[in-house]
Amino acid sequence: MSNFLTTSIGRKFLMSITGLFLMMFIMVHLGINMLLIFDDSGDLFNQGAHFMATNPAIKIMEPVLALGFLVHIIWSLVVTIQNMKARPVGYKQLNNSKSSTWASRNMFILGSLIFVFLVMHIIQFFWKIKITGDPLLAHISVGGEEMENTYALVAGLFKESLIYSLIYVVGGVLLGLHLAHGFWSAFQTIGFANTIWLKRLQFVGTIFAIVIAIGFSVIPLYFQIKF
Ligand code: HEM
Repeated sequence: MSNFLTTSIGRKFLMSITGLFLMMFIMVHLGINMLLIFDDSGDLFNQGAHFMATNPAIKIMEPVLALGFLVHIIWSLVVTIQNMKARPVGYKQLNNSKSSTWASRNMFILGSLIFVFLVMHIIQFFWKIKITGDPLLAHISVGGEEMENTYALVAGLFKESLIYSLIYVVGGVLLGLHLAHGFWSAFQTIGFANTIWLKRLQFVGTIFAIVIAIGFSVIPLYFQIKF
């Protein structure tokens, strides 16, 4: 296994597996977040957030998700450093924009910016919900069940802060760009490498990236425009 991880495909393999796992999380996360804009009473989103916070299967997945992020981030550093060492002088800069996209050449930068966004995001929501608490989270009753008012925390931030709303739009767009390359590249690494599959995966990857970028961006914009 350690030999495999030192080969070029082996190095990418761990990035691909963790990347695909994180993409599944991103889809579920966006699905639940969409409830924010489909019900202005907040009940639907609160029920979704409550389910995610209390369901035993999801609770088991939380540390796995954290591990997935950690491995993906740390391994991206390892791969980038190894690539730099393997090419210490650097090739003469050719105009390689024809053979590769801007996103594919800047995956590490995009990933690093998403990491900065993620730290801010975790402090704003996850940390308050799980550790410190917040007056906005005061319990409410939805359908006879007691739960935290997660909607008030999230909607409050987007209604009150244009700057943070715009940062969330940028975060969504950065994630979309990262996935525009990451989606098909991950499948290519695990074996879908022939030209027919590659074309299909690039098409699906582009649609996926657009849905993610627009989906996450629309939420803060909705609160800024409507309220
Ligand atoms: C409109 C945009 C977004 C909203 C409204 C939003 C909302 C939230 C909320 C409320 C939580 C806390 C959930 C809880 O602990 O009960 C959370 C956690 C989290 N978010 Fe987001 N999020 C957004 C965008 C993103 C993006 C773009 C990413 C990925 C780059 C992301 C990754 C995470 C992660 C890793 C967690 C911690 C794990 C979890 O609690 O499920 N989020 N988000």
